Amino acid sequence: MDQFDAHSLKKIFNKTKTITKLLNKKKKMSLLSGKIISLLFFEPSSRTFSSFCAAIKRMGGQTIEYQNPTQTSSTVKGETLEDTIKMFANYSDLIVIRHPQVGSAQRAAVASRAPVVNAGDGIGEHPTQAILDLYTIFEKFGRLDNLTGLITGDLLNGRTVHSLIRGLSYFKNITLYLLSPSQLRLPSDLCQKFVSRGIKLIEITNEKEISGNCHFWYWTRVQKERFKKTSDYEKVKNKFVITKELLKNKGNKNLIIMHPLPRVGEIEVSIDDDPRAVYLTKQAINGVYTRMALLSLILKD
Ligand code: NCD
Repeated sequence: MDQFDAHSLKKIFNKTKTITKLLNKKKKMSLLSGKIISLLFFEPSSRTFSSFCAAIKRMGGQTIEYQNPTQTSSTVKGETLEDTIKMFANYSDLIVIRHPQVGSAQRAAVASRAPVVNAGDGIGEHPTQAILDLYTIFEKFGRLDNLTGLITGDLLNGRTVHSLIRGLSYFKNITLYLLSPSQLRLPSDLCQKFVSRGIKLIEITNEKEISGNCHFWYWTRVQKERFKKTSDYEKVKNKFVITKELLKNKGNKNLIIMHPLPRVGEIEVSIDDDPRAVYLTKQAINGVYTRMALLSLILKD
C-alpha cells in the first residue's frame, strides 16, 4: 500500500465506478483482450483467487492458474521463487502472487519483467483487499476523510488489516478503535508509522469500550495458520464475536459491517441478513470490480 496515495486510490475508484456501470448495463468488456495473467497462489485462497479470475475473464483476458504450486510445480524440486517468477514473466503480461513469506511479492517484482500484484505476502500485506475495502467504505459514505472505524481480531498477523490501516492513513481525520486479544495487538512499529501519518489509533480491550459513532466495523479471523501451537490459537480464537446484542448495544443505523472472510465464528450467522452487513454482498462483489479497475489501469497500452 505504500505505493499508493489518496490520488491514485481515487483514480482506481473512478475506474471502478465506470466499470460497475458498464457491467450493470451488461456491456461486454475487452480491456484485457489478448492479455494473459498468471495467478501463482502458494497459499490457500478462495475469494482472492476467484475474484481475480472473474475480473480477468470479464474483461476478455486469459489466465495461467497455479494453485498450490509447492506440490504441483518445480518448486517441489527446489526451484527458487525468483526463477519461477522469471519463467512466468516469459509466459504472461502480469503476475498475481500469494506467498507465505513477508516480502515475497517485492522479491517477485524485482525478479520479474512483467508487473507483479501482491495478493497476500504472509502476515505482511494484502493491498488488493485493502483497495476493495476502501472502495466499499467510499461507496457507502462518499468519502474517506473524517471517518471513525472499529477494527477487531488478529491485528498482529492479519495482513488485510495492515494494508487497510495503511490505506486509511492517506486520508484526513481518521479515528480507528483497535480491539484485539492482548497477544494479537497491532505491532508497535506499524502503530508508530500510521500515527506519524496523522491517523488516530485507540486501543481498546473489551466490547464495552466500542464507540457508538463508528462508520464501519471491520472484523477479522484469528489467523490460525500463523500460530506455532494450536493451544495458543485456542486461547484467543473467537474472543470477540458480533452478536445481535452487541450490534444492538453498540451499532448505529448508518454503520457497515465488514469482514475480509473467511469467518470462523466471529460473526454470528444471524447478522448476515442485517442490511448493514456487507461482507457477503457489496464488499465481496467489489473485490471483482476493483480488481478489474486495477488490472485495466496497469495493463492499459
Ligand atoms: C484474507 C487473507 O487471505 O488474508 N482473506 C482474503 O483474502 N479475503 C483474510 C483471512 O484469511 O483471514
